[in-house]
Amino acid sequence: MSKSPNLLLPALGFAALAVGVAYGVSTRNYKAEEAALAQLQAERAAEQAAAKAAEVSALEAQIAQVQEVAREEVRLAALSGGTLSEPAPEREGTFGLGREAHPQEIAAWDVDVLPDGRGLPEGSGDVWTGEEVFVDQCAACHGDFAEGVDNWPVLAGGFDTLADEDPVKTVGSYWPYLSTVFDYVHRSMPFGAAGTLTADETYAITAYILYSNDLVDDDFVLSHENFAEVEMYNADGFVVDDRDATEYAEWRAEPCMEDCKDEVEVTMRSVFLVETPPEGGSNSVMNPARDIALPSFTAAGPSFIPEATPQPVETAILATAPAEPEPDQGDALVATGEKLFRQCSTCHEVGPGARNKSGPHLNGLFGRVMGSVDGFRYSGGFETAMEEGKVWDEAELAAFLADPKGYMSGTRMSFRGLKTDEDQAAIAAYLSAASE
Ligand code: HEC
Ligand code: HEC
Repeated sequence: MSKSPNLLLPALGFAALAVGVAYGVSTRNYKAEEAALAQLQAERAAEQAAAKAAEVSALEAQIAQVQEVAREEVRLAALSGGTLSEPAPEREGTFGLGREAHPQEIAAWDVDVLPDGRGLPEGSGDVWTGEEVFVDQCAACHGDFAEGVDNWPVLAGGFDTLADEDPVKTVGSYWPYLSTVFDYVHRSMPFGAAGTLTADETYAITAYILYSNDLVDDDFVLSHENFAEVEMYNADGFVVDDRDATEYAEWRAEPCMEDCKDEVEVTMRSVFLVETPPEGGSNSVMNPARDIALPSFTAAGPSFIPEATPQPVETAILATAPAEPEPDQGDALVATGEKLFRQCSTCHEVGPGARNKSGPHLNGLFGRVMGSVDGFRYSGGFETAMEEGKVWDEAELAAFLADPKGYMSGTRMSFRGLKTDEDQAAIAAYLSAASE
């Protein structure tokens, strides 16, 4: 904008002053002179004010122009993939904090996939590619067959355990939507290197996890096109919570405070639930369920950790666990074995109608020739054992389970083993009982 009006105005003021003074001197009337001088001063002040106002509006116009240029630069930078360190442009009626997100930024964040397949990237992957990527990137924690190593989450199996005391919630047994698998894996796995998987790798892994759960065959190819057709096992297992409509009235009733129980029993302590020991252990929620001998306490009884002599929780459990064995040892052993078998059930079935999964069915194991189940593809070691006619008995099974890879080198059974004599005996008792 031109500055000429600013320069002109003071000049005009000066001219007016000169005319005024000339008029005052010529009249020689003192009073009139005084009045004229006052008027002159007032006129001069008004002129100066006008000049300043003109200067201010000229500066405002300049500022607006600079802002407009800056905004345009920011906009152009955004279009050409600008950086996060750009200055924040001012916006009408705001404090000028933040800026509009770039389309690229939105795209990078907008990765969620909905159950109906909305949000899926284009791509595809098959089970075998998935197995390769999985073994490479996931198996260290989740096991070759998604069975979970040590305390890392199990991703396969656990079918029909959801109503049990110790449900095994896996992608296969629990998750209702496949989109969650894709989204979760794509977004947050491999643990520690989240966000590194391509869309195709994620499709392949998702296909492999489905395969590990016996939900698809090994020639299955998953893509954005057939994604929505996959039915998950537990798709119908969730209901909409309607308790506000169905039960709320009941909750509002006055609570009954009559005939209360004398004794209140603590059945579980959160210490059992939060603990996740690195090498596994009987108290871990991440571990397959085991019997934990729980002390029972009454309101009047000893406190869980006595105040006078604090002791570690484990010791407290052992100290108060029943010393007497169960009355019927045989049944108890089978029951223990049944619980232990959950660790095997990811890969093995036993009992009427048992099929081969990623491991052979275990019906009639004792007396059975090793590596002899029809239609199961064994590793070389088991094939040799079959040719030699070696037969399973309790001692062989115990030795195998104690250290699968040590017993049968190259075995495909990826399982850390059952170390103790008691556990091995319990499993043997259960296998005999279950396959009768
Ligand atoms: C370093 C160990 C590690 C690696 C490697 C790893 N994960 Fe995980 N994964 C975890 C842990 C830990 C969790 C539980 C995270 C949580 O609950 O916050 C988990 C959870 C999951 C879950 C959810 C399980 C559930 O039932 O909640 C899935 C699915 C999964 N991982 C898939 C994968 C896939 C696929 C890969 C390979 C691309 C992979 N993970 C690599 C450690 C790992
Ligand atoms: C991660 C999957 C997996 C788990 C868990 C697993 N197994 Fe296996 N099991 C296999 C596979 C695979 C084979 C075939 C091994 C081979 O060919 O090398 C096998 C083989 C066997 C065999 C030999 C069967 C035969 O026909 O000769 C027995 C017995 C066995 N497993 C028992 C168990 C028991 C008991 C458990 C639980 C304590 C268990 N397995 C846990 C996968 C598993």
